[in-house]
Amino acid sequence: MTNGVNRSELETDLAGITLPTPIGMAAGFDKDCKILGSILKLGFGFVTGGTVTIASRPGNPKPRMIRLPDMKAVMNSMGFPGQGLEPALRRLGKAQKYKDRVLISIAGTIEDEIFECLRRTQTHVAGIELNISSPNTTGLRIFHEPARLRGLIEGLVAEKRVPLFVKIPPWPRDEENRREIHKLAETAVDAGVDGLVVANTHPVESSRLKVGRGGLSGAPLFEHTELMIADVQALVRGHTSIIACGGVTTAEHAWQLLAKGASAVQLYTSFIYEGPGLPARINKRLAKLMCAAGIDNVSDITGDPPTL
Ligand SMILES: Cc1cc2nc3c(=O)[nH]c(=O)nc-3n(C[C@H](O)[C@H](O)[C@H](O)COP(=O)(O)O)c2cc1C
Repeated sequence: MTNGVNRSELETDLAGITLPTPIGMAAGFDKDCKILGSILKLGFGFVTGGTVTIASRPGNPKPRMIRLPDMKAVMNSMGFPGQGLEPALRRLGKAQKYKDRVLISIAGTIEDEIFECLRRTQTHVAGIELNISSPNTTGLRIFHEPARLRGLIEGLVAEKRVPLFVKIPPWPRDEENRREIHKLAETAVDAGVDGLVVANTHPVESSRLKVGRGGLSGAPLFEHTELMIADVQALVRGHTSIIACGGVTTAEHAWQLLAKGASAVQLYTSFIYEGPGLPARINKRLAKLMCAAGIDNVSDITGDPPTL
């Protein structure tokens, strides 16, 4: 069985990174960078390892991950459990042959931690994803203050040697919320990021999670992801790459987000429900849809997917 990545029509450019397919595994699945190569072999065009923080962290108390199978969704309040930067660096060093298709998600609650993560990981990866958007780690919210975010990103841009992406929170609530996140996106773009990841999980409250709240992911997010991509594309007008993330399950979903201006998509929760064959199935179906529509490369996808 092939994983569907050896098709030149799926090859795409993400902020200067050449990917064999625009379908990526989102941050959080391989937090400690243990199985990056195995994930890629399933047919993902790229994988984001992490989120990695300098020190190891226990994360939040359990239960911190609840499946909602009827909705094909998950609620999580993981809070970045992880072994920290050093073990991740050792594993990234051993996975050098995959380097061109690995991004690393980094986070910290003060600027110095984030600078150190960038400096030490960037020689091992194709790109950096700065996570300021986990709903489960309160300290990250300091970077929702535009002046502080600008200072951080300008500093990172001055030091980066690979493309830098910022993963922003979604804006599912109201107009004020939307304006606040737009301001963050504008600030990040203005400060020189190469791309935005749109977006992280949607904040939810639930007594089933030990800490009482967390982030919702999976199928219910898709409709909103579509709206957000159109919204962000109108804001950045092609000057910054967009990775779309939230509820992607099918090739048709990927098509819709690419058509709205995303350069690539990421998924996580659908992989839990659909299994390891999912990226290969999406690759093959996407190529079939493109063939039916007479489109030669994913970057030319527009409009709605054809009905097959
Ligand atoms: C259990 C779990 C852990 C996650 N951990 C991280 C993380 O460490 N860093 C991050 O940026 N996003 C994390 N995410 C968010 C995903 O990367 C993604 O943005 C979100 O799940 C929406 O995509 P999906 O609907 O395809 O799952 C996590 C998601 C889940 C379900």
